Amino acid sequence: MRADVNGITLAYEERGIGSPLLLIHGFPHSRALWRPQLDALASDHRCIAPDLRGFGESGVAPPYTMDRYADDLAALLDVLDVERCAVAGLSMGGYVAFALWRRHRARISALILADTRAESDDAAGREKRVGMIEMARTKGMDAVAEAMITAMVGKTTRESNPALLQEVRAMLSSAPTEGAIGALEAMMNRPDSTSLLAGIDVPTLLIVGGEDTLTPPEFAQTMHDAIPGSTLAEIPRAGHVSNLEQPMMFNTVVRDLLQSLQPG
Ligand code: MLT
Repeated sequence: MRADVNGITLAYEERGIGSPLLLIHGFPHSRALWRPQLDALASDHRCIAPDLRGFGESGVAPPYTMDRYADDLAALLDVLDVERCAVAGLSMGGYVAFALWRRHRARISALILADTRAESDDAAGREKRVGMIEMARTKGMDAVAEAMITAMVGKTTRESNPALLQEVRAMLSSAPTEGAIGALEAMMNRPDSTSLLAGIDVPTLLIVGGEDTLTPPEFAQTMHDAIPGSTLAEIPRAGHVSNLEQPMMFNTVVRDLLQSLQPG
């Protein structure tokens, strides 16, 4: 499916009926990240999984900022006539969810923040981004995928699930180079969201893979401590893409949160 918003075409998948759930992928992912959630959660929910601008089958055009990604998604919700929905973001998708919270909080009924962090990049993090931008420019996305794949999944997946490893690698290397560079710049320049945490007043679930080394469990614990009434789920035998690595456990905790929102 396609929608024209903010001067570009966003590709998205919409499946199921029920209360709406917006699924925001990370870097350098696409809506393919959410395959197991679309398969399982669409039985009870209207799942909406877009490709952010510059990724998947969406248009590739600047500007790339967390605010613009968030504005694109708010405009997509307008097109789909969704006033308010639960929002799930994984990693960079979590950064976008924070931007949505800053700019369009009335649209958010619940937050699911998976394998992400509230802090902005420090100097060392920014330097790494510059290196990654250079790598994408000079060597392309296959090289970026190769550099990222080890940290993208957990030890258990690396050792025991070659098919998933291959699926994740293919998703990373198929990202459009220009969109990935734009996202690296957007992540590098994103604001710190720590000060938002205490004011989050919708039901919030933090999920983290126990083997996530990119955004380790400590980050989820920090957000859990700061967000009033939030729930924390650490998923064993999963790394950074915990939703793909242990989909049943991931879906169970998401379902529990979504069910708690239903009236009665
Ligand atoms: C992601 O998975 O979205 C990225 O690892 C996030 C990041 O690089 O900060």
